[in-house]
Amino acid sequence: MKIGLLTSGGDCPGLNAVIRGSVLHGIKTYDNEFVGFRDGWRGVIEGDVMDLPRTKVRGLAKQGGTILGTSRTNPFDGPNGGPENIAVMMERHSVDALIAIGGEGTLAGAKRLADAGIPVVGVPKTIDNDLQATDYTFGFDTAVQIATDAMDRLRTTGESHHRVMVAEVMGRNVGWIALHSGMAAGAHAVLIPEQKVPMTQVAEWVSEVHQRGRSPLVVVAEGFIPEGMDEVLSQGTEVSGRPLLGGVGDYVTAELEKLTGIETRNTTLGHIQRGGAPTGFDRVLATRFGQYAVDMVNGKQWGNMVALRGTEMQTVAFEEALDGLKTVPQDRWDQAKIFFGR
Ligand code: F6P
Repeated sequence: MKIGLLTSGGDCPGLNAVIRGSVLHGIKTYDNEFVGFRDGWRGVIEGDVMDLPRTKVRGLAKQGGTILGTSRTNPFDGPNGGPENIAVMMERHSVDALIAIGGEGTLAGAKRLADAGIPVVGVPKTIDNDLQATDYTFGFDTAVQIATDAMDRLRTTGESHHRVMVAEVMGRNVGWIALHSGMAAGAHAVLIPEQKVPMTQVAEWVSEVHQRGRSPLVVVAEGFIPEGMDEVLSQGTEVSGRPLLGGVGDYVTAELEKLTGIETRNTTLGHIQRGGAPTGFDRVLATRFGQYAVDMVNGKQWGNMVALRGTEMQTVAFEEALDGLKTVPQDRWDQAKIFFGR
C-alpha cells in the first residue's frame, strides 16, 4: 500500500517525529511505501508530492518544524478541491490512503473527505492541547517547557528590579499552556480564556506578593478576556483612547502598573513556543501516533483519529475529536489559584 502524509495548519514540534514514526513502522511492518504532500492540503489538491524513502526520515525525531511544509489550505477550496478531484490526484500518484496530521480545522476537513469516501485517517496536532478525545497532543509539552524556561528567566530579572513581570503565552481559545507553564514556574496569577477575572483582582494578587518582598509573575494566555470586556484584545484595538500595540499582555501590563503603581513589564513569547526541537515526551508521543496511524491505515479504519487515552493509543472517530474544544476545567484552575496572591 502507498500512503500519503500531509501536515496541515500551524506547525508544531513533533510533526517530523510523526512522519519518521509512520514511515519506519510502515516500511518495516507492512512493506508500505510513502510519499509526502507539500504544504498540507495544497499539496494534495495540486499533486505536489515528494517521495519519503527511509533515508529521508533519518534523524528526524529531534527536528522542529515539518519537512513537508504546512499551510491552512482547505481541501474543499478552489476549482481543484473536493473529494472527486482529490481521488483523481491520489490515483495519479498511486496513493491508496492519506494520513492527515493537523488540528481541529485539518481534522474537520479530513472528516468531510472520509464521509465522501476518501480513505483517510488523522493524527491530532496542536500546541494548545485543546482537542477533545485525546489526553495530550504532541507539541504541548514542548510549548510548556519553552514558556517555563522563559518565565524562570523573567523571575530573576524581575526580582533584581522589584518589578511585576507579565508573560503572554499562546492559547487563543484555551488556557492549557498558561496553566501548566504558570504552575511550573510558580506564577502569582494565571489568566486564561476560561476564567473572566477582573483586573482589580489581579492587581490585588500582585500587590500582596510585592508587599511580601517578591517580584510578582503574571501569566496571561493570548485569548484571556478581562472581566468587563467582551472581546479578545488584539493588535490595533484602542484601550482608554490609546492604540494597543501588542496583545492582551500589553494591556494587562499597562493596567497593573496603573492599578498597583509598581513598575511592570510584558514579554510576549509568540511563535518561539512553536519553534525548535520537541521534548523527549513529545518525540515519543508523536512517534507512537505515527506508528498507530499506520496500523489504522493497514486496518482500513478510515474516518478515525489516533488518540492517547491514559498511556494507551486508541482509535476514535473524527466526530468525537471535533465535539467542541477541550477547555481547562474549574478544578484545575482552582488548584493553580491556591498559589495566587498572599
Ligand atoms: O493553534 C496553535 C496556535 O499556535 C495558537 O496558540 C495561536 O493563537 C495560533 O496558532 C497562531 O497562529 P499563526 O501561526 O497562524 O499566527
